[in-house]
Amino acid sequence: MSPKHVSKVGLFSSDPLSRRAQGLEESFRKLGIDAIQVIPWKVSRKGATSKHEISMNGVDLSSLDLLIVLDLGANDIGAFFNRVGLLSALTEMGVRVINSVSSILLMRNKAETMRRLISAGLPVPRTLITESIDDAARFVQTHYPCVLKPITGFGGLGVQLIEREFDIDNIYDYLKFHSQMFGKGAYLLQEYVRSPGFDIRALVLNNEVLATMQRVGGEGITTNIHCGGIPRRNTIDVSELSVKAASSVKGNLVGVDIIPDMEGNLWILELNATPGWAGLQQVTDFDISERIAYEFGQI
Ligand SMILES: Nc1ncnc2c1ncn2[C@@H]1O[C@H](COP(=O)(O)OP(=O)(O)O)[C@@H](O)[C@H]1O
Ligand SMILES: [Mg+2]
Repeated sequence: MSPKHVSKVGLFSSDPLSRRAQGLEESFRKLGIDAIQVIPWKVSRKGATSKHEISMNGVDLSSLDLLIVLDLGANDIGAFFNRVGLLSALTEMGVRVINSVSSILLMRNKAETMRRLISAGLPVPRTLITESIDDAARFVQTHYPCVLKPITGFGGLGVQLIEREFDIDNIYDYLKFHSQMFGKGAYLLQEYVRSPGFDIRALVLNNEVLATMQRVGGEGITTNIHCGGIPRRNTIDVSELSVKAASSVKGNLVGVDIIPDMEGNLWILELNATPGWAGLQQVTDFDISERIAYEFGQI
């Protein structure tokens, strides 16, 4: 007996022409599943006393069986709340949203992700999250070299190594500048993990590792593909760690960032709720989009 399929899927993304969005659309179509691109700013919500409707180009989005969030794409607080609200509403209206809204919100916040990882007994570098510039400055003085990053960032943006012994005035100026540029008032400071020159990205799909890669190079200390990191095949087994990490935030499709230290210990840096797979595809022998569509296409 062939598995039962969902019949209508939405792909929620601010970049419907991306390879990821196009690849998934095509993969669903090959399975006989109708896939539409849901573009956040084209969605409208209409309310009147006896009627509430969420639609895009005349399509009632509550009729979708499944909505995969490829990116939230919201930097403004207004767009962010609107999109989170849309996804929550569609969930309540019976659409299966992947990743779930609560899971996306957890992974959007590195501090909350870390709390879940720690509760699951997983290894994370020593970290301080604070709004206090005094406490942040103290951490820098006692833990340099350390890494400063925005608590809601992605793509390596604003991830910087503090390696020199700044005098206290410089630390204050530096933290203030970083906050204005990236952090918007909250600091995440983390011990720097000296790696053998690469980190590892694992893509977890429904409690199984679908693909992994090592990333080398990049900009500053970041190896993100966005920052020019180059993918290469990975031979280190990160399966158990990655699956446990993804399930700690109840994610169905999760990008897990892991960094090895010089002794071969593995540390989890963060989890991504809307991971890309262009880099992973370069070092993977099967079509990642097809596997994802197949997995989520079953009821
Ligand atoms: N504590 C750390 N020690 C060493 N390198 C780090 C550390 N934190 C981040 N990096 C490097 O910076 C990259 C981006 O950091 P990450 O926490 O994944 O944030 P982003 O959400 O921007 O990807 C990582 O992939 C890694 O290469
Ligand atoms: Mg990352």
